[in-house]
Order: sequence, then structure tokens, then C-alpha cells
Amino acid sequence: MEIREQLDVRGGDPRLPGKRATESHMTLSQQMMPSDANPLGNVHGGHIMKLIDEAGALAAMRHARRPVVTITMDSVSFLSPVRVGHLLSLRGAVNWVGKTSLEVGVRVEAENPITGELTHTNSAYAVYVALDDQGKPCPVPPLILAGDEDRRRWNEAEARQQIRLQRTKKK
Ligand SMILES: CC(C)(COP(=O)(O)OP(=O)(O)OC[C@H]1O[C@@H](n2cnc3c(N)ncnc32)[C@H](O)[C@@H]1OP(=O)(O)O)[C@@H](O)C(=O)NCCC(=O)NCCS
Repeated sequence: MEIREQLDVRGGDPRLPGKRATESHMTLSQQMMPSDANPLGNVHGGHIMKLIDEAGALAAMRHARRPVVTITMDSVSFLSPVRVGHLLSLRGAVNWVGKTSLEVGVRVEAENPITGELTHTNSAYAVYVALDDQGKPCPVPPLILAGDEDRRRWNEAEARQQIRLQRTKKK
């Protein structure tokens, strides 16, 4: 007898086929250049935030297969400096989906290409909203949670989203 695993499918528009987080995993890699840094060779925090936003938006677009806009980004702390010449890798993954919004987590690591030393410089969470052809929010596919790690990420993201909405008193 065939035993089918009951899928844990959450959020989004139930009329759309659900997608696993792994389907929208995204890695952006870029070597840091002098134009990205201050005169001491430390990369600007604003430049790293821009790359976080780009990586997050690409993961969100991969899930929604729609254009997205950033509606909010949580506070970002810079845990260690990123230097000119380092290879920055930003890995984005969809943690949670609402009806039209998605939370993406982005982990940032810097690699010294000479020594191979790898540093976790920061992690950030951003929320994106998918847009229809008129530029209005549109429904996104549900997220299929594939295991305990996905469920932990979902639960934590859902709690963060509730706090964001309480802060903006939108819901
Ligand atoms: C994104 C935008 C289209 C949303 O329009 P809106 O009329 O506010 O839409 P809604 O109030 O229906 O909210 C849409 C979704 O965003 C969520 N949202 C709204 N404010 C939020 C906030 N501060 N934090 C997190 N999520 C938020 C809502 O909960 C809703 O999610 P859901 O559909 O999953 O439940 C509009 O706010 C906008 O154009 N903002 C500017 C975006 C921008 O220029 N970004 C920078 C460049 S990419």
C-alpha cells in the first residue's frame, strides 16, 4: 500500500500550487570593490544592506513569480567588518508567506579569498509584497514546509510579522 506523507502547506492563495522554500533559495556572490568602501577599506553598511535587499527580493520573486517591492526590513547589525577584496555571499530563503507578503531571511558571509577564512557578518529579515500588473498587492503561492527546520523558521517569522504589524497598527 502506498503511504503518502501529509504535506504541511501554509499561507498564500490555496488556488495556487504550493512551493517548498528550497525552490526559491537564492545565493548572490560579489567581490567587494574600493568603490563599495570607505577610505580605510571597510565596506559601507549601506552597500551590504542594498545587496541584502536584492538577494531577498530575488528569493521572494522566485517564490511568487511576480515582481515584488520591499515593504520593510528588520534592523541589521554588522557583526564584523567586510573588507575590500572579500567575496560576499548572501543566501536568501523564504521563511513565511502571508496572503500577498513574504518574509525572506538573508544570511551574509564574507570570504577572504586568499586565506579562505569565512566570516558570518550578519543576517537580516525583510518582507516583500508581490504586485499584479496594476502594481497592486497580489496573492502568492502557499509555502510547503518540508520538516522541523522549515516549521521553526515559519513559527519564528510569523511571530516577527505579528510584531511588525502591531508596530504599524495595520492589523
Ligand atoms: C507594498 C504596497 C504596494 C502595499 O500596499 P498596501 O495598500 O499598504 O497593501 P496592504 O495594506 O494590503 O498590505 C499588503 C501586505 O503587506 C503587509 N504589510 C503591510 N505593512 C507591513 C509592514 N509594515 N510590515 C510587514 N508587512 C506589512 C500586509 O500585512 C499585507 O500582507 P498580506 O497580504 O500577506 O496579509 C505599498 O505599501 C507600496 O507601494 N509601498 C512602497 C514599496 C517600495 O517602494 N519599496 C521600496 C522599493 S522596492
